[in-house]
Amino acid sequence: MNFDEIIDRRGTGAEKWEMVHREEGKRAVIPLWVADMDFPAPAELTEALVRRAAHPVYGYTRVSEGFFEALAGWYRRRHALDLDRRHFLTGPGTVASLGIAVRSFTEPGQGVLIPTPVYKPAYNMIRFNGREPVEAPLTLNGEGRYCFGPPGPAPVTQALERALSAAADRGIKTVMAVLCSPHNPGGSVWDAEELEAFLAFARQHHMVVISDEIHSDFVFPPKRFVSVTAFPGYADMTAAVSAANKTFNLGGLHLSYFMARDEKLAGILKRGLRASGCDTPNLFALTAAETVFRCGGSWLDELKPYIRLNIEKGVRFLNCIPGVKGFAPEGTYLIWADVSGLAAGGKFRDDMELTAALEREGRVKFTPGSYFGAGGKGFIRINAACPRSQLMEGLTRFKDWAARFCSAG
Ligand SMILES: Cc1ncc(COP(=O)(O)O)c(C=O)c1O
Repeated sequence: MNFDEIIDRRGTGAEKWEMVHREEGKRAVIPLWVADMDFPAPAELTEALVRRAAHPVYGYTRVSEGFFEALAGWYRRRHALDLDRRHFLTGPGTVASLGIAVRSFTEPGQGVLIPTPVYKPAYNMIRFNGREPVEAPLTLNGEGRYCFGPPGPAPVTQALERALSAAADRGIKTVMAVLCSPHNPGGSVWDAEELEAFLAFARQHHMVVISDEIHSDFVFPPKRFVSVTAFPGYADMTAAVSAANKTFNLGGLHLSYFMARDEKLAGILKRGLRASGCDTPNLFALTAAETVFRCGGSWLDELKPYIRLNIEKGVRFLNCIPGVKGFAPEGTYLIWADVSGLAAGGKFRDDMELTAALEREGRVKFTPGSYFGAGGKGFIRINAACPRSQLMEGLTRFKDWAARFCSAG
């Protein structure tokens, strides 16, 4: 597969390319923001969709046994997880499924623990459904990796504990936790010990844990992805939600799935899916997902080293810009970078102003860290899942713009 190929996405309604600053006489903005890849999908996927589209009847479609077999096979081969057909439930897009989980396991006004900074729509699914996000700030260690707590003798769950008691002081009962694993925006891949500590903490506080594992296929050695479903001792209080949408860039197709080993827990999710009218998936999404789970492995095996090199080169480049510190993620295709040294020049109040000015004047778009919550202030998130020339052109524009408009503080 030629991942260097620049594919023109104009005219396809691509959010990544359409929602950018445009101005007569100015060059097009390079979009390195939303987590959407600019690579061609596996050929088998396009062929399967075209084949299905060639049949002219597009009626209601049930989820086939073949779909679940393909999904279980993917987890067995890629993540050594022995899940079977009974453990999966299909849902709408991952964000919508998170909303369904929130409504299924909590009552309005109850608290949902969420370590932040975090992928904003996950936070919004708590808030927009009338529940209280109970934020537990993650700690950034010296290597730019987020952890549940600061290094040292204190238990890793101390920050979680503090968040719960602050919520309790406001009269909020916290009954659920949402985890982003691997972590967006920071790229941490939670290891088994961290996950176990998180789950034990949740059990102690009678919380259900829903883990958003959509980035699980982008984990770079020596790290290894561990799912919350790999802890049978916690099965009665944990479920994961995931999708092929990051791995194979199927965000426009809006299909996700829950993974739950416990029958009772799965039953609650099933009722939630029904109550939302989301228990019959989209026909093309099913065709696409079954195909990639069956045949997409070699495409992904080629793509991951390409992305990893993008990340390495990108981080090296960023670290040559005065006032910028880029961090290589353990997982995801997203680079998290501290630009507080740039903003300190006094021109920009924060990363929001900085990224807006950069997009307008420098013609490259990143996601401001503050979008992911207060803990992200002073950071930017850069999407490295694009042809290398595009990434490096975007970073070069950033460097040139910073040299002209910023003074490192
Ligand atoms: C952590 C996380 N969850 C969910 C999503 C979106 O998933 P979906 O498009 O299936 O709703 C994203 C997209 O970037 C993400 O980063």
